[in-house]
Amino acid sequence: MAESAELILDGKSYSFPVTEGTEHEKAIDIAKLRDQTGYITIDSGYKNTGATKSAITFLDGEEGILRYRGYPIEQLAEQSSFLEVAYLLIYGTLPTQAELDNFSHQITKHTLVHEDVRKIFDGFPSAAHPMAILSSLICALTAFYPESVSPDLSKEEIDLNVIRLMAKISTIAAWTYKNNMGHPLNYPRNDLDYCSNFLYMMFSFPTEKYEIDSRIVSALNKLLILHADHEQNCSTSTVRLVGSANASLYGSVSAGINALWGPLHGGANQEVLEMLQAIQKDGGDTSKFIAKAKDKNDPFRLMGFGHRVYKNFDPRAKIIKKAADDVLSALGINDPLLKIAQELEQAALTDEYFIERKLYPNVDFYSGIIYRAIGIPTEMFTVMFALGRLPGWIAQWKEMRENKEPIGRPRQVYTGELERDYVGIEQRS
Ligand code: SDX
Repeated sequence: MAESAELILDGKSYSFPVTEGTEHEKAIDIAKLRDQTGYITIDSGYKNTGATKSAITFLDGEEGILRYRGYPIEQLAEQSSFLEVAYLLIYGTLPTQAELDNFSHQITKHTLVHEDVRKIFDGFPSAAHPMAILSSLICALTAFYPESVSPDLSKEEIDLNVIRLMAKISTIAAWTYKNNMGHPLNYPRNDLDYCSNFLYMMFSFPTEKYEIDSRIVSALNKLLILHADHEQNCSTSTVRLVGSANASLYGSVSAGINALWGPLHGGANQEVLEMLQAIQKDGGDTSKFIAKAKDKNDPFRLMGFGHRVYKNFDPRAKIIKKAADDVLSALGINDPLLKIAQELEQAALTDEYFIERKLYPNVDFYSGIIYRAIGIPTEMFTVMFALGRLPGWIAQWKEMRENKEPIGRPRQVYTGELERDYVGIEQRS
């Protein structure tokens, strides 16, 4: 007999079906709760609430497991490439060589952006945060491809929008950096792979030859793979919610970029670096900052620590921590911030406050050390997170559309004033 959940309200018993996923996660299906009982549920921050069923990413926060379409993140990070993982997330299977070549070729062909995009750059103040520019220009793609707003796009039209977005975000992201630095913008090169092309657009100058460093390309592929999806996190839930209103892929992803920018979410990678620099400037005493993080009266948090779902080590943090060691030694860089990060981690992991709250380093704790080592400035860290997360956002938006999910519209419990009559302004005190 199928499992069900019994709810007793006002002396009356109600039964609700239990649904179970392929990894045996169980959920009480309350689709008929309000109709049958007049009650709703409330769950601030959705800590116990599933928004959807999804076949894209599985994570187990207690065991520190993360898999994309069933493949462990550890294997993908070591053996795959970012575009191959993007294809896997978006289309559900590892591509054949022909499929991967076509996917890569299509993306390469679409890396150029409309010349009018360059003019939009001129309108931003030079000190504009790259995330503000990125979210604006990704949304602006809707203006350049107005047909993308149609809710009745064919598979081919959706695939074209996917290719355009994967391709143009790398050019736009690199241009936000060059614009910020006052450097000439670099046009993409069709003879380079995705990550090499991004590094070329970011760091080359028309005045000299740019040497692609394969060690940096490899580190960038790994970082983007590790950020590619993470089930129903804040920014992905934003993309799905905006997309559920039949908003375009570009508009939905632009909303996700803004959610990711939040310092409690993807913006944490920039905050971690700034925190490490503050500790360094303060003399390197990590215990002071651990005490601040524990002090309820101090708003300071140990950025890069803690996670809504992982109550064990974030598996991505483990891989990135090792990659940071590898990249810095390969490049012969001795970054004192890495040592401060390692000391901070050790101090926190042996401190009762962090242990009892199950606070471990998350994906953002070490990623900035690598970005810094490969020359990416702190303000661009969250842009790098968005570049990596894009295939996940696309896959989740596509799944939501293909499953014809209804428009998202949560309920509330009203706690405001009861009915009262309008008072003319002359009677108000
Ligand atoms: C990402 O969801 C995802 O999957 C996100 C992400 C992805 O790939 O999409 O993994 C990417 O966003 C990673 C998280 C990056 N953010 C940070 O590193 C910011 C610092 N961390 C926190 O602010 C916090 O841990 C969150 C936001 C990540 C999680 O917050 P929760 O789950 O709402 O937990 P909480 O705020 O209720 O904290 C529980 C307790 C509290 O103490 P008590 O009130 O119980 O005494 O833990 C404390 C918090 O004060 N706490 C921290 C802390 N994080 C939680 N105390 C000090 N430093 C911290 N970092």
